[in-house]
Amino acid sequence: MAISMKPSAYINKIVMALMLAVLLLIALVGSRLGLFTDLDEEPHIREDADKIVVGVSQLGSESGWRSANTESVQNALSKQNGYFMIFSNARQKQENQIKAIRSFIAQRVDYIVFAPVVKSGWETVLQEAKEAGIPVIIMDRGVDVADKNLYTTFVGTDSVEEGRRAGVWLEEHLKKQGKADERINIVILKGTEGSSAQIGRTTGFAMVSGKHNNWNILGQKYGDFTIYKGKEVMQDFLEMYDDIDVVISQNDDMTFGAIEAIRESGRTVGIDGDITIISFDAVYEALEMVAEGIINVDIECNPNQGEYISEIISLLESGQEVEKRYYIEEDVFTIENVTEELLEKRTY
Ligand code: AHR
Repeated sequence: MAISMKPSAYINKIVMALMLAVLLLIALVGSRLGLFTDLDEEPHIREDADKIVVGVSQLGSESGWRSANTESVQNALSKQNGYFMIFSNARQKQENQIKAIRSFIAQRVDYIVFAPVVKSGWETVLQEAKEAGIPVIIMDRGVDVADKNLYTTFVGTDSVEEGRRAGVWLEEHLKKQGKADERINIVILKGTEGSSAQIGRTTGFAMVSGKHNNWNILGQKYGDFTIYKGKEVMQDFLEMYDDIDVVISQNDDMTFGAIEAIRESGRTVGIDGDITIISFDAVYEALEMVAEGIINVDIECNPNQGEYISEIISLLESGQEVEKRYYIEEDVFTIENVTEELLEKRTY
C-alpha cells in the first residue's frame, strides 16, 4: 500500500532539508574563512610559521603621541622585518588589555608587548603569561608589581625625570625673570588617573616644587591626556581662579585644549602672554607652538619605541640576556632649540 503523506508533512520535510543545506553551507564557508578555528590550533602558526609572532596590546588612541607610538611599533614589528603582529587597541580600559593578553596566551604567541593604561592590577595576568612561558615586554608606561620576574623587560620613558625637568625649567625661568621669590600660582592638568605617566610626572614635578614655598599649587585635575578633557578642566580652573601664572599640562593634547580655553577666556599664553605653558610630549604641532612662543617649554616623551622592542626581541631570540629597564633618550624644547631643521626631521 502506497504511503501517502499529508501536505503539511511534505512542507515540514522540505523545510528541514533546506535548513540542513543552509547549515552545511555555513559550515563550509565558515571553515574556509577560518571562522571556527579553535584558538588552541594556533591559526597564525599555520600561516606564518617562519615569523616571530608578537601580541601587542596598545592602551588606546587618546593622543597624537599615542598614534605615533602605535605607528612606531607597527613599523618595527612588520612582516618585512620577520614578525607576525596581532594588534589590539584597549580603548583606555584595563579589562580590555587583560582580555587581549589572555587571548595572546591562548594563541601561544612568541612574545607579548603591552603599554599598560594604569600602573597597578597586573599580577594575575602576568603570572598567567609567565606560566605559559611567554616573555612579556612592557612598553611606554610602567607597572607596579612586587615580583619583577613577572615580566622580562621594560622599554619606555622616565616620567619622573620628565616631571623633574619641568620643575627645573620653571625654577630657572623664574630666576631669569627676577621672579624667583614671587608668589607663583600654578594649576596642573594631570593625565589618566593611575597611569605611570601621570604619577611619574606629578611626582617628578613635586620633587622640585616642594623646595619652593612661594610656588602655590592652586589645583590639580585629571584631564585624561585628551584635548577635550584638557579644555574642560582648564575652563573649570579659569572659572575658579583669575590669577593663574603657570599651567603644567601633562601632555600636548591637553595643552591644545587648555590653550583654547585660555584664549576663549580673553587671556594670553606663552612667552609674551599672561600664562606660562609647560607641556609634555613634544609632538610636531606642539613644537611649532614652541617655536612661535605659544608654549614656553615642552618636555619630550619619545614615542619611537618600536625599534628598541625589535632589538630586544632579537637579543632574546639569540638567547642573550636583556636589561630589566631601557629608558629612551629625551630632550627639553624651548624657543632656543626648536629650529627649522628639527621640525623638518620630526616624524610625529
Ligand atoms: O604614556 C605616555 C603618555 O601617554 C603621553 O604623554 C601621552 O600623550 C599619552 O597619551
